[in-house]
Amino acid sequence: MSFKQWPLVRDLRFAQKCGRFLHGARKRRPDLDWDEYRRIARHFKADDMGSFAERGYLFQLASDLPAGAQVIEVGSWMGASTCFIAGGLKGTAARILAVDNFAGQSTCGEDSAWYDRHFRQLGVKSTLEIFRANFAALGLGARAEPLVSDSLAAARQLADRRGAIDFVFIDGDHSYAACKADIAAWAPFVGRGGIMAFHDFGSRATGVTQAIFEEIKLGRFAEIVGVAETIIAFRL
Ligand SMILES: C[S@@+](CC[C@H](N)C(=O)[O-])C[C@H]1O[C@@H](n2cnc3c(N)ncnc32)[C@H](O)[C@@H]1O
Repeated sequence: MSFKQWPLVRDLRFAQKCGRFLHGARKRRPDLDWDEYRRIARHFKADDMGSFAERGYLFQLASDLPAGAQVIEVGSWMGASTCFIAGGLKGTAARILAVDNFAGQSTCGEDSAWYDRHFRQLGVKSTLEIFRANFAALGLGARAEPLVSDSLAAARQLADRRGAIDFVFIDGDHSYAACKADIAAWAPFVGRGGIMAFHDFGSRATGVTQAIFEEIKLGRFAEIVGVAETIIAFRL
């Protein structure tokens, strides 16, 4: 175990980094429940799928949705981003549907190697039970429903919900072709004025960046709502 992974060192680093982020976040958006953000961040302090700023932005986007909002996430892994979104939602009817094969099957070569390594370390073949355990531990289970499926198959299965979703967050297969296909499949689900956001824009996942750029040029999105590190959000 590296020095940074020692529990005490990890807790100190978490307190420092999270505190620094929250100092700015509370100033920028004093209206949001940053204690809830902190509670979720503490639970996921060992997870490295996103930064404090990126997770804070997902929490903010979800908090800004109307009460009872309906959300779809494509690519949930162990549920960290899903929990930050769920934590920001309001109203008993609000839900996030988490679409993932939960087996890391991806056409993005770089990702495949990463998943193989992580599944070997985890000693499991699916992250679904870890996803469920994370939601249960945070008491957010009533807000989320995992859908074990390939992204495009799920979009076909859920066709009757087109136009009825307030927020779609895409963080699934990072290849260019898969990201283009995800945009085409999931954009029709976003109702007028709703939000579509992506992880990994401008990151080493160049296929994602290229796919989003092309869609911007094609006029797919009405406006850019905001950017936080590698998360970019659009209004449709
Ligand atoms: C980068 S991880 C998601 C991380 C998560 N959003 C977070 O921030 O905590 C990508 C996920 O997408 C899933 N995935 C990849 N390709 C997929 C596909 N075609 N259909 C469904 N899920 C897919 C993988 O199983 C993996 O769990």
